Amino acid sequence: MTTNQVIEKLNHALNREVSTFLRYMLQASQIKGSQWEAVRQMYMEEVTDEVGHAQYLANKISMLGGTPILHPDLTPPPSDVPSMLKNDIEQEKVDVQGYLELADAAEQAGLIDLKMKMEEQAADEAHHAEEMTRLLGA
Ligand SMILES: [Fe+2]
Ligand SMILES: [Fe+2]
Repeated sequence: MTTNQVIEKLNHALNREVSTFLRYMLQASQIKGSQWEAVRQMYMEEVTDEVGHAQYLANKISMLGGTPILHPDLTPPPSDVPSMLKNDIEQEKVDVQGYLELADAAEQAGLIDLKMKMEEQAADEAHHAEEMTRLLGA
């Protein structure tokens, strides 16, 4: 695993993060009704987490000599709350796998700090999926 291959994977993860916080920001703005207020608050809090993940990835890409390149997915999110939660639980699980693969790639490239941070971000995404599963009542 070369540093350039790691940078490519980091850019992929960066775009997933940016797509995620844009989607969560939009969803938080569109959710109405007191029955969904906890979901709206959760999305607003998670925007902050995902921005932090994206910022870390962009910084690391630059420090490894790469260039962060953004091409986020701007597909409009579902309009009903249960569909939002189901979709996002699946996406958070994809992110857990992505970060575990990045942790392995970082270890192979000898980037131990990155390996540990990718494991931490995998744990954050697993926690997000769990919170959403609770709010969905599943
Ligand atoms: Fe994230
Ligand atoms: Fe997340």
